[in-house]
Amino acid sequence: MNKNYKILICDDNEAFCYLLKEQLLEEGFNVDAVYDGSFAIDAIKKKNYDVLLLDLNMNDVQGEEVLKFVMEYNVSLQVIILTTIEEIKKAVQCIKMGAYDYLTKPYDKDDLIFSINRACEHKDLIVKTTLLSKEVSKKSSDTIVGKSTELKRVMNLAMKAAMSDSNILIEGETGTGKELFAEYIHKHSARKEKPFVVINCASLPDQLIESELFGHEKGAFTDAKSTKQGLVEIAHGGTLFLDEIGELSLALQPKLLRFLENGEYRRIGGITNLTSNVRVIGATNRNLLEEADNKNFRKDLLFRLNVITLTIPPLRDRKEDILLLANHFLETKSPIRAPKHLSPEAEQVLLNYSFTGNIRELEHIIERAIIFAETEFIQPEDLNLPLANLPIRALQVADGEQFPVELISMDDVEKWHIARILKKNRWDRARTANDLGISPKTLYTKIKKYQLKQD
Ligand SMILES: Nc1ncnc2c1ncn2[C@@H]1O[C@H](COP(=O)(O)OP(=O)(O)OP(=O)(O)O)[C@@H](O)[C@H]1O
Ligand SMILES: [Mg+2]
Repeated sequence: MNKNYKILICDDNEAFCYLLKEQLLEEGFNVDAVYDGSFAIDAIKKKNYDVLLLDLNMNDVQGEEVLKFVMEYNVSLQVIILTTIEEIKKAVQCIKMGAYDYLTKPYDKDDLIFSINRACEHKDLIVKTTLLSKEVSKKSSDTIVGKSTELKRVMNLAMKAAMSDSNILIEGETGTGKELFAEYIHKHSARKEKPFVVINCASLPDQLIESELFGHEKGAFTDAKSTKQGLVEIAHGGTLFLDEIGELSLALQPKLLRFLENGEYRRIGGITNLTSNVRVIGATNRNLLEEADNKNFRKDLLFRLNVITLTIPPLRDRKEDILLLANHFLETKSPIRAPKHLSPEAEQVLLNYSFTGNIRELEHIIERAIIFAETEFIQPEDLNLPLANLPIRALQVADGEQFPVELISMDDVEKWHIARILKKNRWDRARTANDLGISPKTLYTKIKKYQLKQD
């Protein structure tokens, strides 16, 4: 009900703490209580609380000091001041310092619960805004389109992975939908109400990745003007997506390993171990087992990560999905008043294309075609493919030269190919027949059939 929000009570009146704790436990919150400011500071360093209920008058370390610490240390933690009527001025001062709310003792239980719930919502909002401003939370088009058996198999496994809470490794060529699947898993998991945080391990230098991931203390390095929370903290309760995890440096890998092992980490420049609870999904377009054999990636980290491995097949291995996806992009990207469709010829071209950039490439091809097509129907030339109409993929691989796109029939292609290999071998027929994998006799017949002549 209360999404497991974590509340810390700090008040030197033990009996009062006990009572309050019982009431909040009944409401479904996760509650700890401490009896002095210094204990509160320790507890906040160790656990990621959502709301702190803070008494102002305590023996040792006073409430204001704790509040000051929170404002520097954990800006998303919401503080509600518990005070007496006589001290209302102090409480107002605390609001100015950044506390979320105050309540006067004896408090009304409903008022208290109301205030705590609002503080929790406020915290969620802050986390979301931080994510948006970091652009780590992406716009989501969460439909996974496809009906091929290969894709269905991956979807099935993704669903099972979502139900579990294990770490996951997603493998696949560029543009196959690794991030889409990671988000799909998050949205179908018990963590769906909490943040989905993305960091690309290849996008930043080492120290910045570390400080993005784990945060830093004020003064930890030249630019560290204030304490910063790491993404592992922001993602608390949710999912952390480490894109291009194969690029993570060997220096950072042990730190991530430790975090995966027991949820512990340290901010840069910090001396206390902090903990956070996130599920990690890593994505890579490399073969990490090979990388591990070559000592570029730690095996122990790989085994922590690939409890479940999802391998997304390239688009050329699931041709059934090509037109479905193309039509999906046409539907979502065409102007509503002027919907566009694929002509049968354009469909044929797409079905024969190799899509080295996979679904992202298909998406771009369609976006461009929508702009270029002059009529309602997209023609092959609107697709603007580098080697359009290429019927035999092997040719494209073997061939450095441009394939003449006007060749349509198989005979045209055969003629072109034989002529090319003959030319390459200076008309040595035995070698050419050998290269082509046909007998010299067949070659002879084909030379006659196509009327090929040495220049
Ligand atoms: N099955 C699918 N259905 C609909 N859209 C898809 C599908 N797979 C991928 N896409 C879309 O294709 C684009 C590329 O997908 P995504 O960014 O998830 O790929 P990726 O594997 O993470 O790529 P990279 O390795 O380059 O980071 C996105 O716009 C995504 O929404
Ligand atoms: Mg990606």
